[in-house]
Amino acid sequence: LRMVDVIEKKRNGEILTQEEIRFFVEGYTNGTIPDYQASAFLMAIYFQGMNAEEQGNLTLSMVESGDRIDLSAIAGIKVDKHSTGGVGDTTTIILGPLVAACGVPVAKMSGRGLGHTGGTLDKLEAIEGFHIELTNEEFIKQVNDLKLAVIGQSGNLTPADKKLYSLRDVTATVDSIPLIASSIMSKKIAAGANAIVLDVKTGNGAFMKTEEDSIALAHSMVAIGQNVGVNTMAIISDMSQPLGYAIGNSLEVIEAIQTLKGEGPKDLTELCLVLGSQMVLVGGKAKTLEEARGQLEKVIADGSALEILGQFIEAQGGNPAIIHDTSLLPQAAFKTEVKATATGYITKMEADDIGIAAMLLGAGRATKEDAIDLAVGIVLEKKIGDAVEIGETIAVIHSNIEDITQSKAILQKHIFIEEKHVEPPRLIGKIIT
Ligand code: URA
Ligand code: CA
Repeated sequence: LRMVDVIEKKRNGEILTQEEIRFFVEGYTNGTIPDYQASAFLMAIYFQGMNAEEQGNLTLSMVESGDRIDLSAIAGIKVDKHSTGGVGDTTTIILGPLVAACGVPVAKMSGRGLGHTGGTLDKLEAIEGFHIELTNEEFIKQVNDLKLAVIGQSGNLTPADKKLYSLRDVTATVDSIPLIASSIMSKKIAAGANAIVLDVKTGNGAFMKTEEDSIALAHSMVAIGQNVGVNTMAIISDMSQPLGYAIGNSLEVIEAIQTLKGEGPKDLTELCLVLGSQMVLVGGKAKTLEEARGQLEKVIADGSALEILGQFIEAQGGNPAIIHDTSLLPQAAFKTEVKATATGYITKMEADDIGIAAMLLGAGRATKEDAIDLAVGIVLEKKIGDAVEIGETIAVIHSNIEDITQSKAILQKHIFIEEKHVEPPRLIGKIIT
């Protein structure tokens, strides 16, 4: 095989064979195919697309480029959940204990990542003493005992994806559905899941801004999963405003604890119940979605999900007392109220800009090297559809810097108050199986 012929074939819109796709992924990973040919190939995929079989082959070739985690020592069906990312998305910290309390083993490998706030790992590290460096044996033992453990990325997972993602970033080929779908799915499959529940966000705070694109991405990922024998389903969920009220690391841990106590924001609670029901169902712990939802509501009401959170924190070195006393979490030095400048209704809260306001306070990283401040962030007091009076507080900025002019101005500009009432956006969209 010659790479130039593979590029030409895709450029002309033809279907590639498994052998051709594997030739590219192996050659690019080991350095025998240069960046310029890989760039041309990615651009050909960007314009010509890939069918489901090609996407499945691309995904598996990327999985085979590195280690694949073996979770077979853990009893039961290992269900992983993945969100395509949004603002204030605290679902993982809630869903872990929630489905674990229903008997579904959660063996989570998590990352830090870039963005408005830290990743799940950063959020958990807001808990004093919490660590994510477990040996494989400790990790497996903890999942078998407690049904829940979170570990940092270890081993050499999907090196092909790492190298390709960096190249896509500088060749304007990131926003291609086959490339995004295979990138995400390769990492999930390499992490050892038997089943995957995907939360595909849609709206201005999401990777996919339109519902149509979000649905197309979801279909691609579900088809890839089914093609490689991993039970996969997707839920489209709204990200046109932040999820819940809190945006920030420590602030989101507090929100997660409130939600596990049954006192969380309505939207965040509902999304966790919807995603959790699917996880309990595919995990084989319920026969119907209704039954699964009933179990989840029960482990919230009787405190057992919160109890598991405490045990999980303790097992990984953190202070479990935070579940009853959240003032033990990092606190920001300054709290500044942002006031409504008009009377009316909240009609729009542009999630991506609100996320940037949080990042500017230090809640997230713009580059890999940035340090983050776990205490800072934003707590909204209103959401779309709520009535407000002029002078009323619409958000509180938690900061460790006194000058918050920029974040405050962003909030004033991107939270819209108008006379006409609008309904809150629909939280749960299509379900794709
Ligand atoms: N997230 C990923 O992991 N890969 C992509 O290509 C896009 C988003
Ligand atoms: Ca939140």
